[in-house]
Amino acid sequence: MRGRIAALSCLLLFLITASTYWWRSTDSDGHHQSLSDLLAPLSSGYYSSSPSSASNSPFAIKQKVAVIIETRPVRTLIPLILHFASVLGPEWPILFFTRPSVVRTLAALGHGSAPFARMVQSGQIQIVELPSEPDLGKYLGLSRFLASEWFWKQMGSAEYMLNFQSDSVLCANSGRRVEDFFEYDFVGAYHPWVDGAFNGGLSLRNVEMARRVIGMYNISDDVGAGTDDGLYEDVWFCNKMKDMGARFPSPERASEFAIDMTWSERPLGIHGLNRPNREQQQEKKKEIYAWCPEAALADSSTEVVELNEDEKKSLKIMQDKKTKGGTRLPFG
Ligand SMILES: *[C@@H]1O[C@H](CO)[C@@H](O)[C@H](O)[C@H]1NC(C)=O
Repeated sequence: MRGRIAALSCLLLFLITASTYWWRSTDSDGHHQSLSDLLAPLSSGYYSSSPSSASNSPFAIKQKVAVIIETRPVRTLIPLILHFASVLGPEWPILFFTRPSVVRTLAALGHGSAPFARMVQSGQIQIVELPSEPDLGKYLGLSRFLASEWFWKQMGSAEYMLNFQSDSVLCANSGRRVEDFFEYDFVGAYHPWVDGAFNGGLSLRNVEMARRVIGMYNISDDVGAGTDDGLYEDVWFCNKMKDMGARFPSPERASEFAIDMTWSERPLGIHGLNRPNREQQQEKKKEIYAWCPEAALADSSTEVVELNEDEKKSLKIMQDKKTKGGTRLPFG
């Protein structure tokens, strides 16, 4: 009986994590490909030689940093990142990890978006070029990347890191702040089916503890431990942090931070709104939109840009090169 329960929980874990990442891989493979057909060699001089992360910038990383990793030119990205910047405020520089072709496509769609360009210019939003490896389009590439030394080095002196994906949002009307959750080492939406794990898609993490985890363990060693392909980084980090005596929120408290598969009145954030399997969220969408209308930004995160003829005219043609990453990219 116990064996059967264990097997069943393994299967459930696999289904949850597989559904979490399914959209990402299909979208980046399917749509990104057709788009990159448009793109051809890169002119030199594109790369900025003076990163806006220089310590004299008012938005140099200090105690807090927010991170979004996105390799698809998602239609909602510019307004979504701008919204995060305004809700988080100037103490949270945002690192937007992506590829040059995505930046150019977004710039063409957004007609050079003046508000976005302004924040990139000031350094409040920093566009960071992703390394070519690991391939984030691959099944566990994102997990390997999030568990890599290279990634955590980018957080500089930050003590707190807020990770957000394009299917998440912070609600300006919630009356809560990310800082209210600084007492925890890892907080994200509670996973009712994965004991002791919180969803990484919108999550606040203790940088120092995450660095200790990757200093002691290699996520590749745990391939096969949870699913056929290994553990997803959020489950992996939560497990390892638990062994280090990490401070985690109760399920109720976690649901005040963010909801995903669970429900809570007016949480700070929402993740996974676009997933058909989040029944409760689907039923309550009207209620959510009534006080968190910006949740619509997270709801259409699977829509990638298809430029029209007019927009294509302003697209600066280029192709992503093999790179070690880390360069700060300009917008446009
Ligand atoms: C982690 O393990 C993989 C596979 O064995 C290996 O390629 C990689 O170099 C290791 N990473 C570190 C930081 O040791």
